Amino acid sequence: MGEYHINGGKKLSGEIRVGGSKNAVLPQLAATILNGDISVLHDVPRISDVFVSIEILQALGAEVKLEGNTLTVNTKNISNASVPDYLMREMRSSVLFMGSLLGRFGECTLSRPGGCELGLRPIDLHINSLRKMNAAIDDEGIIECKAKKLKGAKINLDFPSVGATENIMLAASLADGTTIMSNAAKEPEIIDLQIFLNKMGAKVYGAGTDTITIEGKSRLNRAEHSVMSDRIIAGTYLVAAAITGGEIFLTNAVNEDICPITNKLKDAGCTIKTYGSKVHLKAPSRIKPIPLMRTHPHPGFPTDAQPQFMSLLSVADGTSIVVETVFESRNKHISELRRLGADIFLAKDGMTSLINGVPSLTGAVVSAKDLRGGVALITAGLIAEGNTVVENSNYVERGYECIEDELKSLGADIKLVS
Ligand code: UD1
Repeated sequence: MGEYHINGGKKLSGEIRVGGSKNAVLPQLAATILNGDISVLHDVPRISDVFVSIEILQALGAEVKLEGNTLTVNTKNISNASVPDYLMREMRSSVLFMGSLLGRFGECTLSRPGGCELGLRPIDLHINSLRKMNAAIDDEGIIECKAKKLKGAKINLDFPSVGATENIMLAASLADGTTIMSNAAKEPEIIDLQIFLNKMGAKVYGAGTDTITIEGKSRLNRAEHSVMSDRIIAGTYLVAAAITGGEIFLTNAVNEDICPITNKLKDAGCTIKTYGSKVHLKAPSRIKPIPLMRTHPHPGFPTDAQPQFMSLLSVADGTSIVVETVFESRNKHISELRRLGADIFLAKDGMTSLINGVPSLTGAVVSAKDLRGGVALITAGLIAEGNTVVENSNYVERGYECIEDELKSLGADIKLVS
């Protein structure tokens, strides 16, 4: 386990190419099981959640090769539909193997998924939806799923869960008949999954709207795909430049996908210009407070960018209110930001934060408690006076490929100490 050492106060400036998206590639890695053939994915981030997915595929019997950022998977010889418990516990999206294994083999055995503890994170929507598709699921302890043949169904999600939407798309692609899912998640990563599945010969349409239709196919074929760019990483580097009063050019960004983030950066006083897939941000001399912002499923402001914004607003010229509405335990970074001198009050509900901007933060030793919270601490460390140590780099490495090198290339004084 490593820690980031940051000597704050350097204005960031320069250019970053945004790489492939973690939240897009993880369901796509699960999807490679469906074709029983070769899949080639480009722009795959070299992050630990991807390495765990690769281990799961290998444990099932797939051949996997990762060269640079290109991954080749052959799932023809998968002989086993049980995901080992120690890998299930490594990350939340291991649950996505449920839909693809059920779709291909009509059975699978898994345990409860682990991952960042952002709250209860139940999987009832996944399980109940697959049950509607004719799967018999015993979820006492070990989750055992069986379906002689999955059947298309009409499914209405109580909440537009990203993971449940993806699991249903995966399972339904090889089901008998048509599945119509309403109140589906509309995140851009769902659209990227639809594109990848359709390249395999699946018939999925409607992703990006709240109704997704999947016409089941009896088999799928080999496919090649470039993973979409990571909108949360784009947002993270924009915020990092903004908090230091700097300037940044992003390439390979999708302006439409990052709009919920760039709109808030504009509210905070940043000047943002977009040119095709390029985004330019110039920070104001002092960040403006944002009177009220709430996280929300897409196209609302993403919960995965909330902690980074809390760091930013900690040094704003006034008071901001941030309301987290998606995860009930998303705010574990607040106590650590306070160690750096941030003035943040968290209401009893654990979701509403009042942030009184302070003129400056001061370096300290802080601990990452989850992925985005960890990145928020790095962001704060960039502007804190003196030295900041962010412990538990393993959380950050789940979603960021060499963040220290990227930030260094922008002029930050940061190193990862193992
Ligand atoms: C995905 C993202 C994660 C992001 C989140 C919300 C991946 C790999 N992860 O996580 O980075 O923060 O979307 O944008 O794509 N819920 C239930 N029952 C369920 C499923 C979810 O109650 O069966 C609840 C959760 O507890 C949470 C909310 O729904 O409060 C959102 O969860 P969901 O959209 O499923 O997030 P993930 O797919 O886990």
